[in-house]
Amino acid sequence: MQSPNKQSGDTVDPRWQLEFVARGPDDTDLLARVVAEHVRGGSVILLDGELAAGKTHFVKALVRALGSQEAVTSPTYTLVHIYDAGRVPVTHVDAYRLSGAAEYQDLGLDDDREDGVIVIEWGDVVGSHYPERLSIRLAFVEGDTFKRHVSVQAVGQGWSGLKRGIETAFAEGAA
Ligand SMILES: Nc1ncnc2c1ncn2[C@@H]1O[C@H](COP(=O)(O)OP(=O)(O)OP(=O)(O)O)[C@@H](O)[C@H]1O
Ligand SMILES: [Mg+2]
Repeated sequence: MQSPNKQSGDTVDPRWQLEFVARGPDDTDLLARVVAEHVRGGSVILLDGELAAGKTHFVKALVRALGSQEAVTSPTYTLVHIYDAGRVPVTHVDAYRLSGAAEYQDLGLDDDREDGVIVIEWGDVVGSHYPERLSIRLAFVEGDTFKRHVSVQAVGQGWSGLKRGIETAFAEGAA
């Protein structure tokens, strides 16, 4: 017998959300280090937040945490940079100038995406192109240049251990 709301074979995506305050760039680095531990081929990370919120800062810390010394710069004009010297190659996308998911798809980044992690600044533009993803939103905190309100949302199988990892890292206050 099947319940009316669930057909056999359906899988339910695990999803969770966490919110906390990054007290400064070191906290954003710490978040990137914890995320790096859970990144594997096929991972997708969407980054959002206003200009200078710290999206590229996060990518720099992520690439470093994956073991690469490569210099990370914003792919504002080139749209895509690839850093492949670390444990998992990073495809770094700036979606700011893209019109939407269709134009993103034309970049062809999904052709061999199982090889690495795709990290997309202005990820909202790409929207639901990736049903399974980690979304990180950085928001300024009024009155403090260095603080950011951080919201992390995960959908899909790949991020199950990350929630606990972030909670542990920030509960310890270690930055
Ligand atoms: N808590 C923080 N987390 C991240 N960056 C911070 C923080 N506090 C201060 N900063 C600084 O804010 C700046 C963020 O610049 P960054 O280029 O990373 O922003 P961005 O979100 O990528 O901007 P853009 O929309 O132009 O791509 C950096 O100079 C960084 O050092
Ligand atoms: Mg940037």
